[in-house]
Amino acid sequence: MRVFIVYAHPSEDSFTRHVRDSFIAGLESAGHSYTISDLYKMGFVTDMSEAEYLREAYYRADLPVPPDVQAEQEKINRSDAIVFIYPVFWTEAPAKLVGWFNRVWTYGFAYGEAGGKGRAMKQLEAGLVLCIAGNTLPYFNETGLLESMKKVMLNDRLFDRVKDKDFIVLDGMSREFPSRDKNWESYLERVFEAARGMGTRN
Ligand SMILES: Cc1cc2nc3c(=O)[nH]c(=O)nc-3n(C[C@H](O)[C@H](O)[C@H](O)COP(=O)(O)O)c2cc1C
Repeated sequence: MRVFIVYAHPSEDSFTRHVRDSFIAGLESAGHSYTISDLYKMGFVTDMSEAEYLREAYYRADLPVPPDVQAEQEKINRSDAIVFIYPVFWTEAPAKLVGWFNRVWTYGFAYGEAGGKGRAMKQLEAGLVLCIAGNTLPYFNETGLLESMKKVMLNDRLFDRVKDKDFIVLDGMSREFPSRDKNWESYLERVFEAARGMGTRN
């Protein structure tokens, strides 16, 4: 499979960076190829310009899609699968990744109809969300926050743009919790296996 990784963490000194590296190692060991957009490192602009807003909100359909957005869209259309790797920030993806969706999921590409020709984004075979959370799964379940995070990513952003979708939370990874050290290795193994198995789930 050709896998496109959208990665968003501001620091290399993080567990999330190890998740990224383990995922890539798993992809390589299974013979998958990959492209990565490291959003912080590449300085991806996540504020929408006024012109982009006017285009997306149906005021000015004639306005062009900016080249940096087109480049991300081309990476998607050259791939079979998409994977998001990020830490949970306030029960969401980091603003950097939310802004990526705001700009890259454009009208005519991810939704709507461009001149009656349907949307230009291909339907991807597989999608995986790998998010790293400080809090624990019991906490997320008790509060209902896990459902919120999952629904936003899977039912709205990925939706029918991806056939086979999965959402994995690597929980309890706050530096304040002993579970961080306890979970570290098993989580990285899980991520490695998830990468190897890309596209094989039913
Ligand atoms: C601004 C900010 C907001 C955060 N919000 C949450 C949150 O809402 N829920 C949560 O479980 N963890 C939250 N965290 C913890 C991060 O997810 C934490 O950095 C991560 O789990 C630890 O992994 P890392 O070493 O890769 O950063 C937050 C961290 C920061 C910096």
